[in-house]
Amino acid sequence: MSDNWITAASLADIPDDDVIGITINGHPIALYKFGGEVFATDNVCTHGQALLSDGFLEDGEIECPLHQGRFCIKSGKAMCDPLTENIKSYQSRVNGEEVLLLIE
Ligand code: FES
Repeated sequence: MSDNWITAASLADIPDDDVIGITINGHPIALYKFGGEVFATDNVCTHGQALLSDGFLEDGEIECPLHQGRFCIKSGKAMCDPLTENIKSYQSRVNGEEVLLLIE
């Protein structure tokens, strides 16, 4: 198994209980800080062309701004209609002030 941890952002870049959009190797990723922990998923909704970083984070779920589908930010699981497909989530860790993501 290859270990490919990439520095994604500074911890201070993500407001508490909020989400930001970043790009890693041209790939849009949503970075969340929730309950003092950091989570990451793909940023483009699996239902349409909407960015989850423009959505609303609540109770560990991100609500898509376009049709209000919700994903679990930890597992990427699609939680309700109209979503039919989970979103990819990434392992994250915090090293000092840096947020690292495990990217394959
Ligand atoms: Fe996200 Fe439709 S585009 S729920």
